[in-house]
Amino acid sequence: MKNAVKKIIEAKAVLAPMSGITDIPFRMMARKFGCKFAFTEMIDVNGIFYKNLKTFKLMDRVPGDTPLGVQFVGQDVEKLVYAAKVSRDKGFSVLDINAGCPARKVVKTGKGAALMQSADKFGNIMRKVVKAAGIPVTVKIRSGWDDDNLNYVEIGKIAEDAGASAICVHARTKEKMYKGKPDHEVTANLKKALKIPVFASGNIFTAQDAKEVLTHTASDAVFVARGALGRPWIFDEINKCLNGEDEVCSIEFGDLKGIVKEHFSQSVRYSGGIVTLKRMYKHLAWYLKGYKNLNEVMKEYRNVKDLESFEMFMERLYVEEKNHLKF
Ligand SMILES: Cc1cc2nc3c(=O)[nH]c(=O)nc-3n(C[C@H](O)[C@H](O)[C@H](O)COP(=O)(O)O)c2cc1C
Repeated sequence: MKNAVKKIIEAKAVLAPMSGITDIPFRMMARKFGCKFAFTEMIDVNGIFYKNLKTFKLMDRVPGDTPLGVQFVGQDVEKLVYAAKVSRDKGFSVLDINAGCPARKVVKTGKGAALMQSADKFGNIMRKVVKAAGIPVTVKIRSGWDDDNLNYVEIGKIAEDAGASAICVHARTKEKMYKGKPDHEVTANLKKALKIPVFASGNIFTAQDAKEVLTHTASDAVFVARGALGRPWIFDEINKCLNGEDEVCSIEFGDLKGIVKEHFSQSVRYSGGIVTLKRMYKHLAWYLKGYKNLNEVMKEYRNVKDLESFEMFMERLYVEEKNHLKF
């Protein structure tokens, strides 16, 4: 088995690719809390092929952000092969092909989950990218287009025959988007049907979820996505739980303030001030989820202009009785 895939299996819980989320600052926060393997957000191969600077920036690396997988979304073999060579030169551990994104603007151009609708095209892409990449190639799929087209085993076998090193299945159909419960029977079936490692994705929100899905599906690792939003320490919790430790880490409000400030300053450092102000809005709402009068707090956040005013904003924040946040 290729070394980098071994690292995913050893990590057991991986930070899943999330568009607009898994940038350097967020990955570094996850790594601080025990995440041992992470993916970039999906990167459109068109932007790489045509040398769009903003797209290239999504492939930026910093020391400590390793091992790291890069994920590409695309449907043109030539562009995917080009992107594969770029990612090898940039030292990524794994190249993942997105065959699961359900977004309309993605599937209508034949990318993401649309790749699962054309077995021949999918097989050709996998073969050519595996041949060109020189690093392990994995693929992330859905269970199928809809409940009448659950072709994950067929697609999994094509990927395996084409030389894919592993496969991750988000156990919902494209039609379901993110709704309803994932069907992890799908993951278990895929694991039984294939020889390559199979990773599970879907509703890993707690350490217990990770343990149950790993046990139930016999999958080789789980991908953590929404469960890490506002809770990057979920990786520490999962690691402890899988090591048989009962104690889950509990984060006090004082610790949370420090964590949020660190995330903000990492973001200013790697993404710049303007991107940070916008991106941190959603992260802040996730970090503070569950507190009452969050709307007022988020309104106040609009007055934040830089790292200094953010630190003052966080310093003033405290929790009053009945879970109210106050300034
Ligand atoms: C905001 C957001 C962005 C996502 N972006 C990507 C992406 O770029 N590539 C990808 O393969 N999956 C993406 N996903 C899907 C996740 O990787 C994961 O498969 C899915 O959310 C199911 O896991 P969960 O139920 O634990 O969140 C995204 C999910 C979310 C919520």
